[in-house]
Parts: sequence; structure tokens; C-alpha cells
Amino acid sequence: MRDLLDYRGEFPILARATYLINHSLGAMPAEAERRLGEYARTWSTRGIRAWGEGWWDLPLTVGDQIGRLIGAPTSTVVMHQNVTIAEAVVLSCFRLDGERRRIVYEEGNFPSVRYLYQAQTRHGAEIVVVPEGDSVADAIDERTLLVPISQVLFRTGEIQDVEAIVRRAHEMGAHVVLDAYQSAGILPLDVTALGVDFATGGSVKWLCGGPGAGWLYVRPDLAASLEPTFVGWQAHARPFAFEPELEYADGVARFLTGTPNVPALYAATAGYDLIEEVGVARIRESSVRQTELLITLLDQAGLDVGSPRDPARRGGTVTVRTPAFAAVHRELSEREIVCDFRPDAGLRLGPHFFTSDDELRHAVEQIAEIVESRAYERHLGAVARF
Ligand SMILES: Cc1ncc(COP(=O)(O)O)c(C=O)c1O
Repeated sequence: MRDLLDYRGEFPILARATYLINHSLGAMPAEAERRLGEYARTWSTRGIRAWGEGWWDLPLTVGDQIGRLIGAPTSTVVMHQNVTIAEAVVLSCFRLDGERRRIVYEEGNFPSVRYLYQAQTRHGAEIVVVPEGDSVADAIDERTLLVPISQVLFRTGEIQDVEAIVRRAHEMGAHVVLDAYQSAGILPLDVTALGVDFATGGSVKWLCGGPGAGWLYVRPDLAASLEPTFVGWQAHARPFAFEPELEYADGVARFLTGTPNVPALYAATAGYDLIEEVGVARIRESSVRQTELLITLLDQAGLDVGSPRDPARRGGTVTVRTPAFAAVHRELSEREIVCDFRPDAGLRLGPHFFTSDDELRHAVEQIAEIVESRAYERHLGAVARF
């Protein structure tokens, strides 16, 4: 078994920066660049034949690799561009004008997902937003259609009790759409054991797969019976017959839309391969130890930690509130310490399996020094988006 720090050589940015932003844009494996070159070479040398030699099937073959990482059987995961599209396809399976038209989610849900569901009020949906600290499960009743929740909340890095929510949703006849963007690749996830109806995520974060490779898991019995109305020719039983009428493909393929995002899928598997090789259980073990270390170091520096202290409730990110954290973030970036911040939450620090303990010590020392010396003041007023 390779030592975790031995993997550092696979990620070029680690030679230049203290990279603590894997909850937002995971470090790029050097192999991703080689695979993008392979994509370009295939396009230039095989031309149109590339579709038949693998490109057309990529949303399913790459989906199977995601399936291995999230405990899904083969042929139950398809690739999309992002979570928003994946959830829109799910949503399109249901009518919003009947008795059952409530959509229940937690306040900490990711904005893109919230916006998608909020927009459905124009088609009759009723939205119930569960305030932070209140039980999502308790808000689910017989009028609830969908429960789109995040396994790990993006702002605080807090893990939610998905099992309790799924249990209640199923008792009430509702479906759970689990957003696992902040968990896949850092927290062991078994969608089959959890019994969720749908699960989705992307590749930008802990999976180190880059943008444009979102995924959607559909429980096999639902994939066989539901009929999405947001659909395209990849979802047809015989796409190359170009038939005038829609006939759904069998199984999860009917949850596809149009032409797949081929280059993104080439790039993404480089990250997935490394996550599979290391193993999510081992990554989680390292993450729990390092987030614990981060919290201890931040406490010792007198800084205000916002993330849960109980490791069972903490995902891969540690948040810390400092004065003027947007300006502190800017100063850190100039010192080659890469992290981010979110309104109300403060700085977010996300080590991954390749992060060294020394990097964590260095980052905390620098945050403390920037706060103490007020070095951040020269950035006050600057607006940073990333
Ligand atoms: C929990 C969660 N869901 C979804 C997203 C992104 O959604 P999309 O793939 O639609 O951009 C993010 C972050 O970018 C996230 O943290």
C-alpha cells in the first residue's frame, strides 16, 4: 500500500501551494492533462468513429465507476454536466399539481439546488424550508413529494442524519434526492444501504475530477418505471434509429439527455482512479485525523472554529471565523495558501488525503499571524469571488 504522502507527486499544484480547497476545487491530478491529450488525439485521429469506440457510452461507463465509489450497482448511475441538471431530470418525473406537491429541504441546501426547486412554485410546487437545527424528518408528511437534501452541508461541513430522513420519507411515500457533492470521495457512502431514491453529485470537489462531470444515481426499481420529461436522444431505446416517437431506454439510460460532455468525462476519471486506489475508508480516516488536528491548532491559536467538534458529524471541511475573513482569505492566497470563505461561516479549510500535517501547521500559523499583525487590512473592501 502506498503511503498517502507519496501521492503528492500526482498533483502538480502541491509543489507550489498549500492547497486546502478540496471541498471547492479538488487538486488536479497530472494524469487528467494526459487524458485530455488522449481525448484530443482520439478526436483528431479517429474522428466520427470515436463515438462508436467509447465516446457515446461514456455517461454510462464513467457512471459505473462513480457507482463503485458510492455503493451503487452497475448500470444505475449516469453522468450529466452538473447537479442542477441531474436534479432537474429527477424533478421532471413528477407532476406538481396534485395533492402531493410539497418539496421539503433544509435551510443549508446548496443555492443552485434551492433555486431549481423554488422555481417550481411556478408549476404548483409548495416549498418547505426547514430552519437550521430543526428536524427535516419531522417536516415530511403525506403531502411531501420530494426531499432534496445534502449529506454534508456546504457552508458548515456538517453531516446530516440521512437514514432518519429516508426512513420518514419512505413511511410517508416521498422520495429522497441526496446531494452527495460534499461527501463523495471523502466520506464513505453507500446509496444502496441508505436506500435513497436518487443521489447526485459532481466531480469538482473531493473526487478531484474537475468541472463538467456531474452524476445521478437512480434506485433500480425507479429507473425501470419512472419517465423523465426532461429527456433527449440519449434516453431513447434506439437513439440511432432516429425514430420520430419517444420510446424510453431501459433502466437508468432514460435519465440521460443529449450529447455527452466528452472531454470532461476523460478528465474526471483521473481523479476517480486515485480515489478508488486509495479507498474512501482510508481517506475518511486521514480526514478525521487531520480535521481534528486543524481544530486543535486553531483552538491553540485562539481562533473561532465553527465546524462540529464531533467527528461523526463533521465532513472534510473545517470552518474558522476571523475578523474580515474575506480580506484574510486574500492575504492567504498571496502567501500561496489556497482556501475559500462563505458568508456567515468564515474561512473554509479542506485538506485531502495528500495534505501533510506540516501544511496544516503552516496554514494555521499564517492565519494567526495575519490576524495578529492585521496584514489583512490592505485588502479590506476588495471583493473576492473565489
Ligand atoms: C452540496 C453542493 N451541491 C451542489 C453544488 C454545485 O451544484 P452544480 O453542480 O449544479 O453547480 C455544490 C458546490 O458547487 C455543493 O457544495
